[in-house]
Amino acid sequence: MSLETNLMSGIDSKVIDSVVMLSLDVPDEKDDPQCGAMVGNTGESGCHGQEVRYPSLCCIHEGPLSNLYRLADPTNKHGGKTNAIAIKILSDQFPDKSHIAWLKNERYMSTLLACRCAAVRTALNCSFSMTEMEEVIDKEGNVPDSSRVLCLEWLPGVTLREWVQISNSAKINGIMNNLKLCIPLAWQIAHSLSEIHEVGGAVLNNISSENIIVNSPQNRKDICTVHMIGLGFASFLQEDPEGSSQADHVEVKVQKDLCSLGDVFFELFSGQSPHQSYYDRHQKNTSSEKIDSVIISEGKDNVDRGSNRRPLRELRSILSKSSTPPQLALFVLELMGVFDSGVCGVSTSCHHCYSSAREVSEQLYDFLLEPESFLSTMSQQGFHQSMGCVSFNANYLYGREEQQVVLMNSFERVISHKKACEVVLVSGYSGAGKTAFVEQTLRQPILDKGGQFLHIKFDQLCQVKPLAAMLAAFTDLYIMSISGDETKVNELTIAVEKMIGMEGLAILVELIPSFRKIVSSRSALECSNTGALMEQKQMILAFQAFVRAVRGLGIPMVLFLDDLQWADTASLDLIQALITDPESTSILFVESYRQNEVTLDNCPFSTHLEDLKATAKFIEIQIANLQKKDVNEFISKIICEPQPSTKSLSDILYRKTSGNVLLVIQLIKSLWDEGLLWFSYRKKHWEWNSSLIESKKILHDAAHLMAEKILHFSSDLQLLLKKMACLGSRCDKSILCLLGDDCKDNDREDTYSMSNISYDLDIAIHEGIVKKAGSKYIFAHDQIQKAAYELIPKCEQSQWHLQIGIQMLRACKDEGLDNNLFVIVDQVNRGKMHITKVSQRIEFAKLNCCAGEKAKASGVFLSAALYFEQGISLL
Ligand SMILES: Nc1ncnc2c1ncn2[C@@H]1O[C@H](COP(=O)(O)OP(=O)(O)OP(=O)(O)O)[C@@H](O)[C@H]1O
Ligand SMILES: [Mg+2]
Repeated sequence: MSLETNLMSGIDSKVIDSVVMLSLDVPDEKDDPQCGAMVGNTGESGCHGQEVRYPSLCCIHEGPLSNLYRLADPTNKHGGKTNAIAIKILSDQFPDKSHIAWLKNERYMSTLLACRCAAVRTALNCSFSMTEMEEVIDKEGNVPDSSRVLCLEWLPGVTLREWVQISNSAKINGIMNNLKLCIPLAWQIAHSLSEIHEVGGAVLNNISSENIIVNSPQNRKDICTVHMIGLGFASFLQEDPEGSSQADHVEVKVQKDLCSLGDVFFELFSGQSPHQSYYDRHQKNTSSEKIDSVIISEGKDNVDRGSNRRPLRELRSILSKSSTPPQLALFVLELMGVFDSGVCGVSTSCHHCYSSAREVSEQLYDFLLEPESFLSTMSQQGFHQSMGCVSFNANYLYGREEQQVVLMNSFERVISHKKACEVVLVSGYSGAGKTAFVEQTLRQPILDKGGQFLHIKFDQLCQVKPLAAMLAAFTDLYIMSISGDETKVNELTIAVEKMIGMEGLAILVELIPSFRKIVSSRSALECSNTGALMEQKQMILAFQAFVRAVRGLGIPMVLFLDDLQWADTASLDLIQALITDPESTSILFVESYRQNEVTLDNCPFSTHLEDLKATAKFIEIQIANLQKKDVNEFISKIICEPQPSTKSLSDILYRKTSGNVLLVIQLIKSLWDEGLLWFSYRKKHWEWNSSLIESKKILHDAAHLMAEKILHFSSDLQLLLKKMACLGSRCDKSILCLLGDDCKDNDREDTYSMSNISYDLDIAIHEGIVKKAGSKYIFAHDQIQKAAYELIPKCEQSQWHLQIGIQMLRACKDEGLDNNLFVIVDQVNRGKMHITKVSQRIEFAKLNCCAGEKAKASGVFLSAALYFEQGISLL
């Protein structure tokens, strides 16, 4: 009896129609021979097509545990139906007891189940003539004892694993067509299993893609039949286990089968095994028999296939690379049980999302009936918006309404009353949401007023080039203000010249290279090349003039000075001068800083704060952690579940993070990564495992969570991110190129080229670790940079800096040294205690001297003095 027969008689004819309809897109066998191979009629567990002429007796498979023979039986005298029988013989002449028991169990289960289930082939009671068995005897060296022999019906077809491999290599269908083949097949497999569970009253305990035979008869290639083989571990559900209640026992056994079914579906839809490490451990052995032998020899409980599964992150990535639609991917992952048990989600708890194979087959039945609607959309709001991923709307702020009113009032005053400038101080702990608060509140309103929003971000490790952040921002301001308009260029130039003369213009050219264009057009280029030392005062005047000139164009401005706790003295002096300039009008200065990182003695910003208090009026806004209700609103929006439902989750998250918004975000991402929070395809809403989340240890530091994430990347990418972190929160692609060659692992010959770097960084971008802006790669948050940096052991950090400096110097010895001078010197200085060679010390002393000269020429004397001091200390 075959499943096909059963299908035709017992199941709703609608389903059959669907199967037939969905399979019609398979190219004709004649047109595509590979397709013929896929759905064609090939031999059991081997790749012997029907066209292949078998000798009357042939060995189909040799395994360490047993060999499988095919014996021709043209008249079906041995009781089969396919003109052949399969003979399984334990290969060991003196087999272990457990091996004999395994074979005996297969005989027993096959005999009993085949009467009840179409998908099980029967064991046969055969007696052979000597001639028939000659070859076997030759091979085995003796007449096998009957306890070593099992005769079974011969099944034409291929294993599901082979079916998948052929289908993969044929690549004939495209994803949709492939699905139209795979979904009916998945349904048949689930249906067969439900029959074995419910009608047969048994579980298989060993479902895998090698233990499923798929066959499509030549004349009926529109429909496949499915058989479950390898019943050596199968058992009846009624067998009384020791020490557990019957119902529990049955449930556990069924659920194990369902998880394995999920694994099989994973392979079917993605084309890859979910157990890579398992097969790697056993030399990529794809034979089920070999695996069975390992299972028997290592002890079945020790070789639970589930425990060798790839991590969830990898499973997701394989499914997405294989273009499995997200809905289907969720269905498969949930069936595999990757989202853990003991769920306490929106609904009541359960152990496994499906309680029976019948439910799974019913779900697939729905897919079969309406594949298009299933694959294209899903009505559930939560899924629709997030496709089962946690996603954040970075443009929405929670719990900041009051603070936004204060900031907007200040903004309105500056804009509408054309008053002199105002200063707002925004303080809070790292990750409290200062940057987002200012960005979200002011950027759009100022742009709407035709003004400029200048975000000047200071960096902990990147204060190498004096005034670096300020200069970059003023370059942006210049470009944005003139926006390619010649008239504006002229107006701006005339205004600046009027205020500070040609000499002042020349200073601006030194500081902002984009200015060169204007100055050259006014024949003052020589002026800029004089190399004359510029007084800091002159430089400040030049910038003041520039800002006034921009204001003169009628452009209001918001100058957002972010992370001022890391600002250098020269920048702070300039900021102070701009704030106190009586001519500064319609400028809103917003200064943000981490309140816990400003101590009076260690940071120039504290002096700036005192100066500010003495010289200018300012408003203070504190950005505190989110409140409990805000966290709940936030979580509810992220996963699109109503607030009452998310309260239990958000309460835990609040307790764990104290409402620090960066921590909340990172924690929720990591819960999703680990499968503790997921969208349940079955229940159509989000679920989470409260007890595991509760027991998760969270340090009150987002860097720790992000470090965990970085550690999942390839070693190349980790190395690259660590190097990037040594250079600061952002890094130009050109600098990464200089560092690239060294990012390779030792046993690899090829170099780590820019294309590898770009590819790896794309992964980091995809994972939200890095952002790209123009030619720059920027850590998505300072805490991520910190995390990457702290992955370098503390005692090695200075050596890394030195190494990076030396590598960059080597790479741009001939050209580009000038551009990268400050970066190189800074890196070397951070690791100078490791420089032992005298020649190297002299070389780096000279470099410091060059950097000092360059800083002096830009009027940044304090930095210049530091470079000279460093140079002297090297001698
Ligand atoms: N009120 C909020 N609602 C929702 N998301 C927020 C809120 N505030 C901040 N975020 C998000 O939290 C993350 C961290 O915020 P942000 O970078 O502004 O913190 P920060 O205080 O500037 O930290 P740092 O001191 O480290 O610079 C960002 O992804 C941001 O979009
Ligand atoms: Mg910030």
